[in-house]
Amino acid sequence: FWAAAARRRLRWIRTFDTAQDCDLSRGKIRWFEGGRLNVSVNCLDRHVDTCPEKVALIWERDEPGSEVKVTYRELLEMTCRLGNLLRRRGVKRGDCVTIYMPSCPMAVASMLACARIGAAHNVVFAGFSAEALSERIRDAQSSTVITVNQGVRGGKVVELKKTVDEAVRSCSSVQQVFVAMRTEKPAEMTAVDVALDEEMLKEEVVCEPAAMDSEDVLFLLYTSGSTGKPKGLVHTQAGYLLYAALTHRYVFSYQDGDVFGCVADIGWITGHSYAVYGPLANGGTTVLFESTPVYPNPGRYWETVQRLGINQFYGAPTAIRLLLKYGDQWVQKYDRSTLKTLGTAVGEPINTEAWEWYHRVVGDGRCPVVDTWWQTETGGICISPRPAEPGAEIIPGMAMRPFFGIQPVLMDAEGNVQNSTEASGALCIAQPWPGMARTIHNDHQRFLETYCHPYPGYFFTGDGAYRSKDGYYQITGRLDDVINVSGHRIGTAEIEDVVNQCPVVAESAVIGYSHDIKGQGVYAFVVLKQGVDAQKGDVSQQLKDMVSKRIAKYAGPDCIQLVKRLPKTRSGKIMRRVLRKIVERELESLGDLSTLDDPTAVQEIIQGHKELC
Ligand code: PRX
Repeated sequence: FWAAAARRRLRWIRTFDTAQDCDLSRGKIRWFEGGRLNVSVNCLDRHVDTCPEKVALIWERDEPGSEVKVTYRELLEMTCRLGNLLRRRGVKRGDCVTIYMPSCPMAVASMLACARIGAAHNVVFAGFSAEALSERIRDAQSSTVITVNQGVRGGKVVELKKTVDEAVRSCSSVQQVFVAMRTEKPAEMTAVDVALDEEMLKEEVVCEPAAMDSEDVLFLLYTSGSTGKPKGLVHTQAGYLLYAALTHRYVFSYQDGDVFGCVADIGWITGHSYAVYGPLANGGTTVLFESTPVYPNPGRYWETVQRLGINQFYGAPTAIRLLLKYGDQWVQKYDRSTLKTLGTAVGEPINTEAWEWYHRVVGDGRCPVVDTWWQTETGGICISPRPAEPGAEIIPGMAMRPFFGIQPVLMDAEGNVQNSTEASGALCIAQPWPGMARTIHNDHQRFLETYCHPYPGYFFTGDGAYRSKDGYYQITGRLDDVINVSGHRIGTAEIEDVVNQCPVVAESAVIGYSHDIKGQGVYAFVVLKQGVDAQKGDVSQQLKDMVSKRIAKYAGPDCIQLVKRLPKTRSGKIMRRVLRKIVERELESLGDLSTLDDPTAVQEIIQGHKELC
């Protein structure tokens, strides 16, 4: 199946010898070996050959009504100029270029220029702090960074270049920073900076594509795990592109001529697969959304749908929940008759109320809603309805059915595959698929330990799931200490790490809790050092600032509870399970507390929580 799809849907420089050579238990995943291709040729040149003036990108800029359209011919030219520039400035095949930019055509051209010359890209979400950025640049060992002078989001200017300046100070590997102009304001240029727009104009519009092996690295994308530093997941060329293209076409029923509106930022896997690679591989027209759902008002998405004639809209549950609260009138003001399919996921479950509203109000009850389950690791959608298929049923709040070639299994606590149709358990995938991540950059051992060893022979997703008697899947949430705040994935350990570095803090425990809009909010239990007489307000603000500065704004704790001590087992392990129950007000199911070192700690925390909320 995959070999036939790869032959039909990709343009090869040299065709592959074998479809796959995989052994999940050893973390060996290789697809289409012997094959050579160039991803940028697949996303650009082959469409330029047939329809050069077709619009590839619609850049929906922050300022409503100022969209910019870029044709396939223009995007190929930009990509080639940029590819030539990178080459001339010493970027070589196998290097990794870090891209710190908002969603815009230059960012897409940067990704594709890397692909053109055989460099890997590492896009870092432009909401990450200087410290988080520098950590990712260092881990990826990038010598080149591409950024913009300033970003613009929700009517506000964001000083992205300044963040890069701060980040690269602690990155000795960085030799050059290309700066594109998003606003008029000139950036203060340092010795390593290069004016991107000017330099590009000096380059040729033809750039020889590198012939890449199927399993060469296409990109790294950092994501959070339950412990340790964010990990750079590695995706490779052919398998990733094929999987992104196929899922884009079949899950969303994408047809030639449609305008595809995935509003996720390119800094996340959703932006990679469904704003860039999937749609472009399919020769589609894709929207790059730079703004926010509420700028200049809560009608922004639907005004954009009307103005651009969007046919498939793919958004995050957190935004849908937020917009639902503003009322139907913001939706109904605009003509949404072009919409055919509505998608959700982008990292979190959608509750039934939001699902129903999306379906009934946004889609006027006529557009199927696809709740898509997947991860940075999976490269593309793995479980989702496919409404175009005859008789396909959709149940609100369920991710429904596996995609072609995906074999989900549910494991019980002992690690046995649950054979009955109706079951719950740890969600694993039994056979490899082309879009899956191949390894963690510089840490294959961690890849094995996280994904391959928990259930030998299976890929472990870290999520729990329920399978109904009809065989439909519903995701029940993470089984580890990863949380999803407004669809942004973060490990609670990363937040604890920052909180614990505050001079007045002795220790802390961070958990996720249900939040009306964000899906999950961040709740921090903090023990201050003895003798510290901190005003609670001051400490809370200080901790929030620290987390924003060190990680990103969205990771800042929504709630901080100062406690005398944390509930721990006798061996000193913090019992986060108990803390979660307290915050979710499930006091009757706190479970067995007999292993606690000091059970009175729990009563104090319950009392403190009541006073706080
Ligand atoms: O817990 C699952 C949740 O988001 C995680 C993956 O996050 P990330 O790597 O940032 O990928 C985002 C791209 C979707 C998963 O482990 N998740 C993803 N999709 C769903 C979901 N939870 C519930 N329902 C979904 N449809």
